[in-house]
Amino acid sequence: MPDPATALIDKHGRHIDYVRLSLTDRCDFRCVYCMAEEMTFLPRKQILSLEEIYKVASAFTELGVNKIRLTGGEPLVRNNVMSLIQDIGQLPGLDELLLTTNGSQLEKLSSPLRDAGVNRINISLDSLNAEKFKKMTRTGKLEQVLKGVETAVASGFDSIRLNTVVLRGINDDEIVDLLEYAMGLGISIAYIEEMPLGNINDHQREDTMFSNEEVMAIISEHYALSPIEMITAGPSRYYQVEGSASKVGFISPVSHNFCESCNRVRVTVEGRLLLCLGNEYSTDLRQLLRDQPENSELLKQSIVEAMDIKPLRHYFYDEEQPQIVRFMNMTGG
Ligand code: GTP
Ligand code: 5AD
Ligand code: SF4
Repeated sequence: MPDPATALIDKHGRHIDYVRLSLTDRCDFRCVYCMAEEMTFLPRKQILSLEEIYKVASAFTELGVNKIRLTGGEPLVRNNVMSLIQDIGQLPGLDELLLTTNGSQLEKLSSPLRDAGVNRINISLDSLNAEKFKKMTRTGKLEQVLKGVETAVASGFDSIRLNTVVLRGINDDEIVDLLEYAMGLGISIAYIEEMPLGNINDHQREDTMFSNEEVMAIISEHYALSPIEMITAGPSRYYQVEGSASKVGFISPVSHNFCESCNRVRVTVEGRLLLCLGNEYSTDLRQLLRDQPENSELLKQSIVEAMDIKPLRHYFYDEEQPQIVRFMNMTGG
């Protein structure tokens, strides 16, 4: 039985205590930076069942993981997902259950999610203009998402953060409007640099790249930001908007590298334990779950061994490195 205090330490001395579990590759939106317009989703037998996902979550918590983030695709469009979330919420050793969502189901599900023990949620929101929102998500309805955000705010989560991917010439004119929307609700916002994951057909990513340095300069013309020491081991650097309850996060995977403090791994809905978002190193947990469904020790052993192949860092836009063809909806960020 591996010791949970030391089981998940990689070759570079990083302690993995955080897992991002993708519950589905499907989504009701088709955001232009995330997906191609025509997507083929995985057939049912290729994806982990809810029970298999639970086994994976349970194995990780037994190995010392205390933070789980549920992602997708859109995690809340999976059938019967609430029963899984309730079960994961009860796992011993779990300090934080987090969710990243596009907000489309939050009007209906905020309250059950809170009751299931979800502590914090991140909600994608790239525009406050209904037409532009439609253009960026291809199928999303702004009104529905705003209702979802506002219901979530009323539901008493520990914290809520908006996620905005900034694309030059598309939504860079809404940086301050989105911040003010967050401030009005007393929630936080993170600006995200677009990552080159998957071959999309909507735009050339090099053309739309908008650095967080530019975002910061624009905000600073309107509001004073003071850096805060929030040690999240996550990719976000946080600032407090002076005179407001809102924090602003900057996630800059393209212009900065935060890999040395990486504390996380991911499991795709196919059961691939992926050691880094920007690399393809992985271990197949699905085969194991199906060959020996009752052997939780073997599952844990396989997770422990995978730590040895966690790479030191990611490289985006590096010609020497292979382009990642995996779309973001396969990984959940
Ligand atoms: P925390 O759990 O608080 O760290 O939240 P988060 O910001 O990681 O979560 P979220 O799901 O909201 O992701 C926001 C953005 O950060 C997405 O674009 C993710 O792809 C990106 N992101 C999260 N983790 C990593 C990482 O390890 N490497 C890279 N390059 N990007 C990441
Ligand atoms: N680059 C950066 N962020 C992305 N997201 C989806 N695709 C990309 C990409 N290519 C964001 C979503 C969501 C989070 C999980 O990842 O907007 O907020
Ligand atoms: Fe769906 Fe999120 Fe991808 Fe948009 S970014 S298509 S909401 S998974």
